[in-house]
Amino acid sequence: MDGVHTAALAAANTFFTLIGHPEALEVVRLSPQLVGRAIAEALRLEPPVLFLSRYVLKDFHYQGVIVPAGNIIAMLWAAGNHDPSVFPKPETFDMNRPQAGLTTFGGGIHICPGRYVGVMLVWVLIEEFESHGVRCSLGERAAQWYPAHKMGQLKVLPVRLDRSAGAARVEAEIAG
Ligand code: HEM
Repeated sequence: MDGVHTAALAAANTFFTLIGHPEALEVVRLSPQLVGRAIAEALRLEPPVLFLSRYVLKDFHYQGVIVPAGNIIAMLWAAGNHDPSVFPKPETFDMNRPQAGLTTFGGGIHICPGRYVGVMLVWVLIEEFESHGVRCSLGERAAQWYPAHKMGQLKVLPVRLDRSAGAARVEAEIAG
């Protein structure tokens, strides 16, 4: 279930971010090899998992603070992705920025084992839209997010879908 939920949110959040940056979508259209960078940057800004918890198994010291065994600590993955010391101008969409330090998929020995599958699913979805000439742009109403949720999950994502002239040709070829 974890993988289904997170991958679905990854698709929605990537589309939300990319249609908010139509210039990035255009770059991806012209240079499809950059789609992986676009997805990584979109999910940096809008990660599906905002935070998770970890149990402290034994006391440890972290930057002058003792964290005692038995505590539960929140891993703020979304905050890591917006750390300005790692990602300068963190609110800016920049698919050329170095991706080292991303916390979209957690970190350490429990880092998400499904991360490549998750990104691949989003990648396939974007390619399918492109190959059928389907163009997405922001709808007239504002998107809405679920508030106070541990997931970065859209409640409503109004989009406008158009089909390009190229798509009509593809249909005609299939019909023929
Ligand atoms: C793009 C979509 C996905 C995102 C954003 C995502 C995110 C995450 C995050 C943040 C964690 C916690 C890592 C940690 O504690 O350090 C995690 C763990 C996990 N994910 Fe994903 N995930 C995604 C897709 C998937 C998929 C498709 C699968 C399965 C096919 C999957 C399976 C798992 C499993 C089994 C864990 C637990 C790993 C452990 O505790 O050792 N995830 N994921």
